[in-house]
Amino acid sequence: PTYDLIVRGGTVATAVDVMRCDIAIKAGKIAAIGENLGDASEVVDAGGALVTPGGVDSHCHIEQLSAMGVVNADTFETATGSAALGGTTTVIPFACQHKGMDIAEVARDYHALARRGSITDYALHLIVTDPTPVTMNEHLPALAKDGHGSIKVFMTYDAMKIDDGEMLDVLLKARELGTMVCVHAENHGMIKWMVQRLLDRGYTAPKYHAISHPRGSEAEAFNRLIAMSELIDQPIMIFHVSTAEGAATVNAARARGVKVWAETCPQYLFLTKEDLDKPGMEGAKWCCSPPPRGEADIEALWAALERGDLQTVTSDHAPFSFDEKGKLSAGPNPTFKQIPNGMPGLQVRMPLMFDAIVSRGRMEVTDFVRLMSTAPAQLYNLADRKGSIAVGKDADIVVWDTEREVTLTDEMMADATGYTPFVGRTLKGWPATVLRRGEVVVKDGTLTGKPGSGEFLPRTGGRAAAPRGKVAPEFDPAQNFGAKLL
Ligand code: URP
Ligand code: ZN
Ligand code: ZN
Ligand code: ZN
Repeated sequence: PTYDLIVRGGTVATAVDVMRCDIAIKAGKIAAIGENLGDASEVVDAGGALVTPGGVDSHCHIEQLSAMGVVNADTFETATGSAALGGTTTVIPFACQHKGMDIAEVARDYHALARRGSITDYALHLIVTDPTPVTMNEHLPALAKDGHGSIKVFMTYDAMKIDDGEMLDVLLKARELGTMVCVHAENHGMIKWMVQRLLDRGYTAPKYHAISHPRGSEAEAFNRLIAMSELIDQPIMIFHVSTAEGAATVNAARARGVKVWAETCPQYLFLTKEDLDKPGMEGAKWCCSPPPRGEADIEALWAALERGDLQTVTSDHAPFSFDEKGKLSAGPNPTFKQIPNGMPGLQVRMPLMFDAIVSRGRMEVTDFVRLMSTAPAQLYNLADRKGSIAVGKDADIVVWDTEREVTLTDEMMADATGYTPFVGRTLKGWPATVLRRGEVVVKDGTLTGKPGSGEFLPRTGGRAAAPRGKVAPEFDPAQNFGAKLL
């Protein structure tokens, strides 16, 4: 046969077009698109159903030592298996440096875990918490050469945060290396102060976690971060935008030409702080940072997606089992402060967004593909291989069962947390067959992909991370009394 596999009779959607055609695959790549393409060893009959590129989930925590010192519940095998079941074929989790750690060793260790277990293809973001001279001047340049095209830093969490001076150092280093800088931006002092005030008054239940991250702490940190990004002329990616004010801050910066990218997550599009208001420790399942907000924020975030101020929707999969959240790590009677932050989401990110955008018609099918696959591939410089259906690209393909209705249960979840914060929701549309580089990794909704078959995707920061070339007046010798500062 001419081809290894043909996806026949699908309605193929990309970020710009929807077309009725077949897709022929050879050696893991898309070899031809059209009609009557010839013969293949294997045929997947799409039967008219919607066919999209595999999802790219560019923010997820896997097998990682978290900010609270607890290791994620998942392994690469369980996390990426759950991702594949939900139609995601590429993930970008983290190699996380904690203070005192050698980031070169950290990168090697996480890379080894991913190589052993990953079912999806993967790249890694490097979390920098300890920007020592060795980290900055030796390890980061070497790691950039090894194909790590993005850095992540935190403005909050005692164990993770860097200060404003260190942020400027990281931004400048990234500019030198052509690396993207992703940021968890919340005002640390405001959160710390609110947490203490709540605890001092005996408000310890999980729901108070939502109050402890004041909405204003997000926009404040965004503004401060954007000002620093503008001074250095280094593009940034703002992670998990949760508030209307946060989205407005991103909008204002983009409108004046600052190169700011931003994402949100399903928990901010579908959940509210009321979801944390459950008896006993149950609300712990919904404790993530930033927390889910309110209905007006949900509407503002959808509007920001429509305007393009938010370019992608990631899971921020940060998996801890209910035991870990409620008991193990926190002792018998944990306060909200002791609950590990984060919720699982790799498996349901695509189905949740498919249901909202495609089945319920909130946006266009092409928008779904752009937000879930094409834009994240472009932003993280993976678009030569990932994020679209085009000749020459990796054959990462999802055949959707567009009519299937699924009510989410905890038991359906294939990650290691044992629950989904979206439990009870009925979604229309579910991945039936998923191909990763032409290999069937999900067949009729069942996982067939092999752990360790995922490939590392080396990359530079690419176009999204490239400076605008507009130097701030403070760095312009014509305007700064001749000081040479860059
Ligand atoms: O609550 C969350 N999102 N936990 C994961 C760590 C982070 O903030 O990225
Ligand atoms: Zn070293
Ligand atoms: Zn974060
Ligand atoms: Zn995260």
